Formats: sequence, C-alpha cells, structure tokens
Amino acid sequence: MTTPPLITGLDAIVHGGDYNPEQWPEEVWHEDVQMMREAGVNLVNLGMFSWALLEPEEGVFTFDRLDRILDLLHEAGIRVGLATPTAAPPAWLLHHYPGVRPQTSTGQTLFGAARQTLCPSSPDYARAAERITEQLARRYADHPAVALWHVHNEYGGAMPACYCEVSAEAFRGWLQKRYGRLDVLNNAWGTTFWGQSYGAWEQITPPRQAPTAINPALQLDFLRFCNDAHLQCYRRERDIVRRHAPNTPITTNFMIVNCKWIDYWSWADEVDIVANDHYLQAEEEDNHIELAMAADVTRGLAGGRPWLLMEHSTSAVNWQPRNLAKRPGEMRRNSLAHVARGADGVMFFQWRASRFGAEKFHSAMVPHNGRRGRVWGEVVDLGRELGELSELRGSTVRADTALIWDWQSWWAMELEWRPTCDHTYLERFRAFYTWLWRTHRTVDVLPPEADLSGYRMVVVPSLYLTTPAAAEELTRYVRAGGTVVVSYFSGIVDANDAVHPGGHPGALRELLGVEIDEFLPLRDGESVHLDNGVSGTVWSERIVLTGAERVLSYTDGPAAGGPAVTRNTVGAGQVWYVSTRPDPDGLRAVLDEIAPPPVVDGLPEDVEVLRRTSDRGSFLITVNHTGKEVDVPARGVDLVDGTRVEQTLTVPAEGVRVLREEGTD
Ligand code: GAL
Repeated sequence: MTTPPLITGLDAIVHGGDYNPEQWPEEVWHEDVQMMREAGVNLVNLGMFSWALLEPEEGVFTFDRLDRILDLLHEAGIRVGLATPTAAPPAWLLHHYPGVRPQTSTGQTLFGAARQTLCPSSPDYARAAERITEQLARRYADHPAVALWHVHNEYGGAMPACYCEVSAEAFRGWLQKRYGRLDVLNNAWGTTFWGQSYGAWEQITPPRQAPTAINPALQLDFLRFCNDAHLQCYRRERDIVRRHAPNTPITTNFMIVNCKWIDYWSWADEVDIVANDHYLQAEEEDNHIELAMAADVTRGLAGGRPWLLMEHSTSAVNWQPRNLAKRPGEMRRNSLAHVARGADGVMFFQWRASRFGAEKFHSAMVPHNGRRGRVWGEVVDLGRELGELSELRGSTVRADTALIWDWQSWWAMELEWRPTCDHTYLERFRAFYTWLWRTHRTVDVLPPEADLSGYRMVVVPSLYLTTPAAAEELTRYVRAGGTVVVSYFSGIVDANDAVHPGGHPGALRELLGVEIDEFLPLRDGESVHLDNGVSGTVWSERIVLTGAERVLSYTDGPAAGGPAVTRNTVGAGQVWYVSTRPDPDGLRAVLDEIAPPPVVDGLPEDVEVLRRTSDRGSFLITVNHTGKEVDVPARGVDLVDGTRVEQTLTVPAEGVRVLREEGTD
C-alpha cells in the first residue's frame, strides 16, 4: 500500500532545511530563493528562533518581515514549515519574569543569551508561549506557503529538567494524579528504605542534589514528570495551531538516539508526522551504523510509516570535540541511507551558514563561500536525485526481526549504584543492532509491550525495567513459535525500580527458565571465556537452570563451570539468554547460531540493502560504504539513470543505487 504524502500538497520527497533569513539583509533573501530553486528545495523551516523579532516587547508584534519572506517563498513555489519560536525565549521575557529561568539540581539559575532558557512548568512562560503561538497561528493558518507547523525545537534538548520551586509544585501535582494517596506513593517508592516516608505532599522535592544516592523510584518518576511537562508544552501549542489550521500537519523534531531524556514512545501519537534530527558522531569510523539505528528507531516511532529527516548536516557540525568534515559523497550516502529506512524527506540544519553566533562553524546547504563551495554542488545534486526518486514516496520498509527499545529502561538502568558502571543501555543496544546490521537483517524497533506477532526473531538487548505486560507479550510470542534473544540484566525491576519478587531475572525468570543466583560483574579490563572460545567482558553471573538447557559454559572467571548461554523451549518457540558481553565476533558467533538466516546473504558487511514497497512497486536501495564496487543480485531499472539491470546491480565504491525491481512479488 502507498501511504498518503507526508505533507499534503507536497508531492515529492521533501528537500530543504532550517531557514533563518532574519540573520541576513533582505537582498540576500532573493538570492536565497533563487538558490533554493537551483537546489530543488521544496520545504524550509522558518521562524524557529525568531520570537524576539516577532514580539520585540511583550504584546507588541511585528510580522512584516515574516509576511514578506513567506510571500517571497510562496511566489517561488517553496513551501514552509512554520515554527513556533518558543525554544528561544526573548530577553524581555527572562528579564520581566525571572521565574521563566530554569534551575539545576544544585539550585543554580540558568540565564539567557542562549536558547532553551525556560522552565517548562513556568506559568509565565506558558502564557507568553500561548500568546505568540496564537498570534502566529491566527495570522498564517491560511497562508498558502505554509504546509507544515513545526512546534518549538527539540524539546528537552538543552534543558531536559528544571528543579525550581514551581517545577517542584507541578511535580507534586503530577504525583497526586499518579498515586492519589500518599500511602500508595510511599509504598510504590519503597520509602521504608532509609526512613524516607512522606507525611505530606509538600515534603516531596525533585531529586535535587543530595549528599548521597537519591531514591531511584523518585528519580524515575521525576524523569517521567519532566517528559510529561515538555509534552504538555508541545500539546498547548499544537492545540492552538490545530484550532486555526485544522488541516495542516503539525510536528516537532525528535532527537533519536541522542536524547536520553524524552520518552518518544509517549510522543509518537501526538505528532502528525514523526520528524527526527540526526547528527553523526563524526569521529566514529562506523557511524553509518548508528545512523541506520537512529533511522530504524525513528521508523518504529512512526509505526512503520514514512517519516521526515528534519535535520542533519551537509558536512561538519560545530559542537563535537573535533568536527570532522564529511568526505565527498558522504552526505549523499547519509541522506539516502535515511531514505532507505523510510524517510520521505531529507532536510538540513541549516540553509545558509551563519556569519555570527554560536553556530557559525556549522556546515550548511549554502556554505560561507556560496556557490563555489564543494558542499553546494552536492546539495544541488542531491536535490536533483531526490526529484528522480519521487516514486519511492509512501513506500514502506519490510522487516522480519524486531528489536525492543525502551527509554524508561535506559533511565532506570543508568541511575547510580548499579552492579557495575560499565554496563550502559546504548552500548548493549548498539552491539546487538550492529550484528543485525552487519548480517543484513532489517529490523523494526518496537516498544516493550508491543504485539510481536509475525516476526521471525525478537531481540531484547537491555530490558532492565520489565513490566508484567512486556513479559507476557514475550511469553505469548515464544509460545506461539517465536525466537527471542535476551541479554543480561533484563527483567530485573518493575516500573518503580523495585526488584521483581522471587529472584532474578524477575519478570523473565519463568520465560528464560533460569534463575540468577548472583550477578558477577567483572573488573575493568577483565575477560572470561566460554567453551566455544568466545571471550566476554563486563558481566557474568551464576545461573541455575530451572528449565532451560545449557548451550555454552564459562570456562574461567567467577562463574567458571556454570552456564553462560542458555536456551529454553516454551510452547512452540525458544528463548535464548546471553549472560555476558561477548566480544563482537563472539556475539556474532552466538547469534548466528540462533537467528534465522538473513534475507540477503553473501554481501560484504558494509553494504546496506533495503527494500521499500508500495502500490507503485518494489524498490531496492543499496548503500555501499566500502571503497570497492560491489555486485548485488537484482533485476530492474535504476530510478536515477534509467539503466536496466538484468541480474547484477553494480554499486560503485561509496555509492548508492536505487532500483525499481522487476520479478519480485
Ligand atoms: C540541532 C538544533 C539546530 C542546530 C543543530 C546543530 O540540535 O535543532 O537548531 O543547533 O542542532 O547541529
């Protein structure tokens, strides 16, 4: 099935970027629009940080510049994602209403002259944000250039949590709704520990800096509250926009996987289009794998439907320790790798490189040397190519493996005083993802309680916090014949970070058919060995088999002689458990035993092959990250150059080819 266009009236793959014309004199705008046309730009995000210009004094609005730029873009046929500018509170707001300034957990106030200086619970901020949003929405709801509303920018990005007194009061209100009665909260939070019981709601404070470890249940709830506080800010603006512009899609930009603090599963249904910002860790050699992972998580949030890459960079960013420039061709590969994983739009931060301000060394679509810049040529080429790939729009990616992703496990697992500081959420998720990527297995990323029917395999890399509902769904799936792989330190606690009763791995004990008698984390740099020669680091444990069979054993280390990898047969399916962190080859050896064969086999590891399908046909997207040309078995027509491929698609070194397939169902 072909899904409807991401953006009504924009019948092409989206191409464009954040546009900040307020940084430039008006004569440059005309050149901008001309160059946008040359680059095939069809959407720009406007007004993101313009609050101070649109409302220079409280209640005084100046829209004439925005009127002119919108009209100019409209005349040129360029559509606009109009932003609410509330991520950049103006100086007058912070000056007149000091309560808008957020506070850190040590009680320090954060000041302005930056962006995101805001307390999401501040009533003064709410009132001001509401007012500017109302003005913008009323004025521009029917402007023919506006195709999308872009609410705020990266909620929680710079300012995930505010600990001020107003936030504390809002947190208490949130807790009252969640728990109703104080004894219920005391019980849920285990406040008998260290005598932390509360006798009145007013006694509860956010997890401000304390002499030692703070109640983890309180910390978890505070993170949930902060997520909800940001979500409430989003909803407030979205609902105002919706009232004025009921037929225009509304979104905000996510930051997957770089933002730990927002539980995007709770946001996914609140946006009309899932939009993501993704920036490579420039120094990582295999950062294209992390890109693929972010794209897959984004597609998961979009429920498999096409999504929008709202921001990435044409070349270097400016905020990493060493901001390596992308090499020629890399931006194209990055862009099309996102498209391969379901993006129906490729946008950048930003259109024209700033001359001043904190981001002047960040790359852009138009570099400082304008048309002479290398990047400009690639931007124009990309625009042309995205135009040729129009048929891909609305197609969806097919995957046969599911991977469970959970922000709340991430939060809970990385609170202080865990068995080891070496076990981190992203590291385990990435290790399993990398193996799937390298073996050409396409994955769907799902939340813990999702329906797993239909997948050939489900991988659970790190589900420290496991609810009964998540455990039940995994069990149901295995019973019905599915294969599950679970990594260590999963199933351990409930939603309040309380250990599930009866011993580890708690919620998954019965399903895995093992009991963990003791966690046996390893010293820094220490490794243990399994009887197939694989080595493990970071973690081991003493496992008692209660139904599962032993597949591999520890030959040394604190669990020597005990099971290391187990398999339990439950109903018609099987569940595997990996109790250490195998080296990458070891993980691969273990997993190759378990997993059904990949759909595509025999290709070099660093070549991505994805399939998107729709009513228009089946499309094969191949991204070659190697320095050598690669042959991929395929039949069809190249969407860009029209060449016919009979048997073998030759993908140039570091190149990308997209084929409309023939002879597939
Ligand atoms: C994003 C942000 C943009 C820009 C970009 C730079 O996180 O939304 O406004 O700052 O980073 O990489």
